[in-house]
Amino acid sequence: MCGIVGGIAERNISDILIEGLKRLEYRGYDSAGLALINNKNILRERRVGKVINLEEAAKEQHLNGHIGIAHTRWATHGKPTETNAHPHISGKVAVVHNGIIENYVEIKSELEQLGYIFVSQTDSEVVAHLIAEAMKTHPTLFNAVQSIVPRLKGAFALGIVHADHPEDLIAVREGSPLVIGVGIGEHFISSDQLALLPITNRFIYLEEGDIAHLTRTSVEIFKNHGKERIERPTKELDATVSHASKGEYKHFMLKEIYEQPEAIQQTIAQALNDNALRDDFLSDAVTSFQNIDQIQIIACGTSYHAGMIAKYWAEQLIDLPCQVEIASEFRYRSPVIIDRTLYVCISQSGETADTLAALRDTQKRAKDKGLNISTMAICNVPTSSMVRETDHHLLTLAGPEIGVASTKAFTTQLSALMLLLLKIGQVKKRLAESQLTEIVASLWHCPKVILDTLQHNAEILRLSELFVEKQHCLFLGRGTNYPIALEGALKLKEISYIHAEGYAAGELKHGPLALVDNEMPVVILAPKDDMLDKLKSNMEEVQARGGELFVFADEHSGIANKERQHVVDIPTVNPWLAPIIYSIPVQLLSYHVAVLRGTDVDQPRNLAKSVTVE
Ligand code: AGP
Repeated sequence: MCGIVGGIAERNISDILIEGLKRLEYRGYDSAGLALINNKNILRERRVGKVINLEEAAKEQHLNGHIGIAHTRWATHGKPTETNAHPHISGKVAVVHNGIIENYVEIKSELEQLGYIFVSQTDSEVVAHLIAEAMKTHPTLFNAVQSIVPRLKGAFALGIVHADHPEDLIAVREGSPLVIGVGIGEHFISSDQLALLPITNRFIYLEEGDIAHLTRTSVEIFKNHGKERIERPTKELDATVSHASKGEYKHFMLKEIYEQPEAIQQTIAQALNDNALRDDFLSDAVTSFQNIDQIQIIACGTSYHAGMIAKYWAEQLIDLPCQVEIASEFRYRSPVIIDRTLYVCISQSGETADTLAALRDTQKRAKDKGLNISTMAICNVPTSSMVRETDHHLLTLAGPEIGVASTKAFTTQLSALMLLLLKIGQVKKRLAESQLTEIVASLWHCPKVILDTLQHNAEILRLSELFVEKQHCLFLGRGTNYPIALEGALKLKEISYIHAEGYAAGELKHGPLALVDNEMPVVILAPKDDMLDKLKSNMEEVQARGGELFVFADEHSGIANKERQHVVDIPTVNPWLAPIIYSIPVQLLSYHVAVLRGTDVDQPRNLAKSVTVE
């Protein structure tokens, strides 16, 4: 999704802005641009496609300036063209914008009547013209911006500069993330701190409704659309630049697949002793857990699949009702908010627009009705909006996930969800001590089992060659491996562009079986569990119709290689944790198929890492 970088310094910041944009490339975008103020002129370059195109143009033009703004655009209003790329300029004002201005049509027609000529199809251009108009009646750039922000409806983050005010950089946050990077005698802004890590590890996180005025030496923040001065804390991060490098791997996705043992180890170590939960784990949430009768999970995409597995776990393991819903549906269907419920948002980024809106809506409705609910975020970004706005949080310690396809974020979410349920089960005395000890031991063992599973990479690569020419694919699983079938299908379609569907294997005969012929590869997730015999019957149904089976099975599942049945033996695992382990082969399969098909694995077409607009 769109990315913003901006800065004001004594030195030329052209390279810093470009490097920042490169570090945002993983988010997905289709054009890039930059504007610098030099000698009271705006110098702007924009290019369709990758940041490297912009970098070359900026070098050719010798772009130079100590204040500027830059942007990667993910098209929403208007095609990905140079004219639609940001920054947008009106007279001496240049603006970059993330998010959507919902009432831009109305503002545009007003501005056209005043004589402003629009050159792009974007919603963002209205902001530049509105500020240019406001500059006629306001003494400072800050005052002009402050006067127009209440006119804008929707979610947005803005970076603004003015040719006649080369000492002022203005930043606005309203529904789209924006962070200030604090340097020595210089300040920067970005929609993602990752962009600024090479230059600082000190950050100020703007809140909704904040307008910030940055100079080289000062930062002033005003809340409520700039009305009231507020001090926001400066936080120091220990994240290092090296986290965002591919190292020896060809793609971030592959690196992240291989990082899973360590990521899970880190995630569980914050919660577990040798054979039990640590006393201080989620200790702030104990009272909340005592006061709940059920859980409602809200999430999108891969995070939603993690939630689906947690539903099986919550009901089977600790006998606690658990609902899970896609955030984009939950937020708009006027759900009944139920007293004594724990609302859990699962999100890698903690900024996903639909999940955040569903959380806020739930909080508002509960408050209006005087209900006793608690909210919790399971999230990979400690500084994210979701973590800051929930009552409690449990961090997945996966480290930055750069590949658009979620891998280590997913398996650490599953680990975190299991830890959460163990804690709730313990607090509510719904979990036998022996079961707790057994699952804790299996969790500690999990990184080793993943390492063993990764040993099957070469085998999975060979199988992936059989998918390269395929148009369609089915993934089947039962129980907690049904969501893994959904996740496998999502992975395959998003990075290889092969049409894939995941089904609960029992649903096969209720429709999808009609699709099966000798061109259809069917991926089966077959751990040794109570559902295995039923799953084997489903496999027979596929084979009888000529389908080709690709089976990831427990070595004790008793499923052997034969004609049109390819079996990869996955290490034996405690059935409670099978979905974590069975995620690995479907990730590897999708990865290899995508590489063989020559797609852009880390930045698949049309997708963004963090979906901060609806
Ligand atoms: C999956 O590979 C995708 N990256 C996507 O489905 C993602 O899980 C979804 O957009 C939710 O993102 P979040 O976890 O950051 O909220």
